[in-house]
Amino acid sequence: MHDSLLNPTLGFYVEEIETTEDIAIPKNPLDRVIGQDHAVKMAKLAVRQRRHLLLVGCPGVGKSMIAQAMAFLLPPPKEEIWIVDNPKNPERPFVETRIGGEVDRGKDIGEIVSPDKIPAEVAIKLGFKCRKCGALTSTLKKRCEACGEEKEGYDDRKFTSPFRDLFETEMFNSSRKQVKTNKIVPYIRKVDGKQEVTVYEQIDTDPLKPSVRILNQNALEKLREIEKSRPSKVLVPLKRKTFIQATGASETELLGDVKHDPYGNHPELGSPPYTRVVPGAIHEAHEGILYIDELPQLGHLQTFLLTAMQDKKFGICGRNPQSSGSSVRVDSVPCDFIFVGACNIQDLRLILSPLRSRIQGNGYEVLLNSTMPDTPENRAKIAQFVAQEVAADGRIPHVTREAIEELIQEAIRRAKIIDGKSNAITLKLRDLGGVIRMAGDLTLEVESPLVERTHMKQAIKLCLPVEEQIKREYGSLEKALEKELPLAERDLSKSNYPENYQNQSLYG
Ligand SMILES: Nc1ncnc2c1ncn2[C@@H]1O[C@H](COP(=O)(O)OP(=O)(O)O)[C@@H](O)[C@H]1O
Ligand SMILES: [Mg+2]
Repeated sequence: MHDSLLNPTLGFYVEEIETTEDIAIPKNPLDRVIGQDHAVKMAKLAVRQRRHLLLVGCPGVGKSMIAQAMAFLLPPPKEEIWIVDNPKNPERPFVETRIGGEVDRGKDIGEIVSPDKIPAEVAIKLGFKCRKCGALTSTLKKRCEACGEEKEGYDDRKFTSPFRDLFETEMFNSSRKQVKTNKIVPYIRKVDGKQEVTVYEQIDTDPLKPSVRILNQNALEKLREIEKSRPSKVLVPLKRKTFIQATGASETELLGDVKHDPYGNHPELGSPPYTRVVPGAIHEAHEGILYIDELPQLGHLQTFLLTAMQDKKFGICGRNPQSSGSSVRVDSVPCDFIFVGACNIQDLRLILSPLRSRIQGNGYEVLLNSTMPDTPENRAKIAQFVAQEVAADGRIPHVTREAIEELIQEAIRRAKIIDGKSNAITLKLRDLGGVIRMAGDLTLEVESPLVERTHMKQAIKLCLPVEEQIKREYGSLEKALEKELPLAERDLSKSNYPENYQNQSLYG
């Protein structure tokens, strides 16, 4: 073990390590991407300039990894999208963008004070005040900054209240419902000899600012009135992921929908149309990254994507003509995303040319490498990769330098045989990751504390493609077929069997 870890972003040599434990895993996920410096540079640029990106390359070279890492660089979303009932025409609900998720209902209701003006017991429960020493600190701090005591009000799950429905807003995050709420504490006061409920709502986290709202019974009634007059729901919550992956398996997944309601035509029975509006991936990716793997598989949906990219807005309507949702439409729902598409080289021609030109005009197209030159620096990157895979897997033991060197030789062999490149190292790292996991599993089986060279050698053998295994067993695919098929079928099958890469043995 080294005293300090080797930092991949500064560079190191394979000779410096004993095991993968000596290698630090970079915090920034883009620094974990190996051998794709150009693509990583363009990805950083795309985030900074809010441009689109098309990543083209072989499977398993890091396209999804780069797209995901881009989201890490994005600031958290600032806008929350709401759907608001349109009382005059319920089938045309309004859309509203609220900055910072600020719920504008009842803004002027109640009295806003700083936490030192409220009963101590309430300030403790709201997470401002320390029960032990009485100091006021931010509600985001788990412990009191003055005495170090854990703050009682820190965990908001402790609080339930009969008024909760007033403060909660339902949020739909993909299929899972989340509840967002300001922390509130009800408190019974005596006013003119009568007991009256007062609600204290935490509206900010800073103890030095007026950050608590006091709502008396009057104010609470007013709030209920406002709620009733302006029904709405969150469509895209403020707290959301900035990485959305869409497959284009269905139109509704990508573009949104209005759900069916069997009683949709009966206002007294059915749920109002605005409650049935569901966002598409393009809306959920607002202010974030919309990633589409195997872009050509989107087919005709590419046209909609193009429109969404151009307008940064896309209406939501019921997409099933049989459904009661089909008569509902919300216009101009925001969808300002950075588009990242992935595609392999063969399918490039299946991307619609207007979409290509949209990306070219307002973004970058990048070809990913499938090999990198065999240099000491790049060999060390394979060591970094092994360390990352071990860390990501979480179960397999650390890998010794000798085992890493064995894998590097395999990576060089693969570059030569699969990509026809000499003095190169393969970057088809998903496959190489499979070898590492196999070696790890073999090591666990023999209860060795480290992945040693022998385990890696074994794994390399076992990870041969099955065609390769057949060849080793039978000499060639033809021979295997001859041996395993009944006489009558032999001639037929011989002429039908595809002769491609399998003719060339990986190991001579
Ligand atoms: N360039 C790379 N650097 C580090 N790890 C990689 C790289 N490419 C692939 N991997 C590993 O392989 C896995 C699959 O890669 P992925 O990004 O999904 O490939 P692609 O999208 O190009 O098919 C990743 O999760 C990572 O573990
Ligand atoms: Mg992928």
